[in-house]
This record gives sequence, C-alpha cells and structure tokens, in this order.
Amino acid sequence: MIILKIGGSILTKKDLAKPEVDYENLERIASEIEESLHSDDLNSDLSDGLIIVHGAGSFGHPPASKYKIGESFPIEDYPFKRLGFAEIQNQVKKLNSIICDSLIKHNIPVVSMPPSSFVTTVDKRIYEFRLGLIKKYIKEGYVPVLYGDIVLDEELKMAIISGDQILQYIAKILKSDNIILGTDVNGVYTKNPKNHKDSKLISVLTNLNQIEELESTTNIDVTGGMVGKVKELLELANLGIDSEIINANTPKTIANALQSKPVIGTKLTSKLEEYNY
Ligand code: IPE
Repeated sequence: MIILKIGGSILTKKDLAKPEVDYENLERIASEIEESLHSDDLNSDLSDGLIIVHGAGSFGHPPASKYKIGESFPIEDYPFKRLGFAEIQNQVKKLNSIICDSLIKHNIPVVSMPPSSFVTTVDKRIYEFRLGLIKKYIKEGYVPVLYGDIVLDEELKMAIISGDQILQYIAKILKSDNIILGTDVNGVYTKNPKNHKDSKLISVLTNLNQIEELESTTNIDVTGGMVGKVKELLELANLGIDSEIINANTPKTIANALQSKPVIGTKLTSKLEEYNY
C-alpha cells in the first residue's frame, strides 16, 4: 500500500493570505495519479491500495494562525474560538472538495474522510482515530482522501493536525512501507534552499543533525514546515518504516514515485546499509 501526501504548498498558493487553489498543479497531479493507478506494473505497491493525504496551504494556515489555534485560552474566549474552529473546518473542507472533484474527473474513486469527524487529539497528538473504516474502503477499492484539519483536543479544546501527522499515524498502524511526501522542493536540504544558495540536498536522512539550519520553509506554517515533516518521518524511520520527500512541482515525479521508479529526493530511513553508506 502507498500513502501519498501532497503538500498544501503544491495544491494552493500557500504564501498568499487568502485561499487560492493552484489549479494547474492540481490537474497535473490528478492526471499523474490516474496514470499510475492504471499502469500495468504488477509489482507496484499500488495494487495493494492508495491513501491520499493533502495539506491545507492557504486554506488552513492563515486562519489557524489568526485564531491562534493550539494555544491555551481563557474560557470567555471559547465562543470566538469555536467560530474560528468552524471557519477553519469549513475552509479545508472546501479545498478537499475541489481536490476530490479533480481526482474524480480523472477516474479515481476517492472517498473524502474529514479528520475533524473521526479524529481527536491530546496536546496536539492523535488520540482517537477510526482507522477501521479507512481499511474497509481500501478493501472495496476506494482511494481514501484525508487532509490536515482542525480537531477536538482533550487539553486545548481544539488543535490543528497536519497531514504529515496523519500520514505518520496511518503508516505506523498499517505498517505501510511506501510513503511519499510531495513538497515544493527537491527534498530536505542542509539549509532552507529558498534562502540559502549554498544549501545541499540530503539524499539519505537518518537524523536531524544532518540539517544545519532548522527553519521554516514558508512564511505562514502553523505545523512546522519542512522540519515538522522531517520529525514525523524520522519517527517512522526509527520504527523501520522508510519514506521519501520529493518535488511534486516537477512533472512526472509523483507518477514515477507512485510506480516505484527512482526519483530525485530525500529518503528517510534508519537502514543506512541499504543505501550503500
Ligand atoms: C495543516 O495541514 C492543517 C491546517 C492548517 C488546518 P498541513 O500542515 O498538512 O498543510 P500543509 O501541507 O503544510 O499546507
């Protein structure tokens, strides 16, 4: 089984303060997924099912930061915070609906699974999660689509869960070993490649010390940017579950990764020996 996360920076214009879909990328990626699902490669892990997880980009991060979700607050602020919850949940649902429209147009039998309707957290980490239903959909041949969302939190009343945390959780439980994260850069760099010309792509990452400067990749990112992703994926690597971060902006990269063909990117693993190191 393959779990594919497509970052919000690919599907939306993430640096904008207002929500805007990147329709060109969405259309291209939907057709790459369609092509991969219909390729006849019998060795492909795709024949065991696919789960798509997408980020929130400019639909989720700006309102989450406006309402300071994830910070504790006095009880008299709860009515305001609840409205913030409603606004964020509704915004990311809209993005999900646009993404699912495109995937359906490309003959992908998606089923949308809004995390706010079946996930809760304790101090921002997943606590309850109805995975059984997802498994049933996969068995029936559907492609479940989940996304970064706002959920009820036992301590903070509400929290944002990133698509990366969702991916990590599912991969851990389903023991999926084909995990692909499509971002807007070629992988993990020693420094943020958008600000540092001397940054180098790390082809195999086993620990955070390989990154020289830990900084966020975009201006507005409430879930930690690249560092947030790397932390989730290194947790998987430590359990023996490898993953790769690739550039979904480069045409064919998602298609090739889905078909287990080699692509430029960063492998996150604890098994260095498999990569000739
Ligand atoms: C964020 O999800 C969810 C919200 C802000 C509601 P992600 O952290 O997975 O989104 P991207 O990929 O960074 O945009």
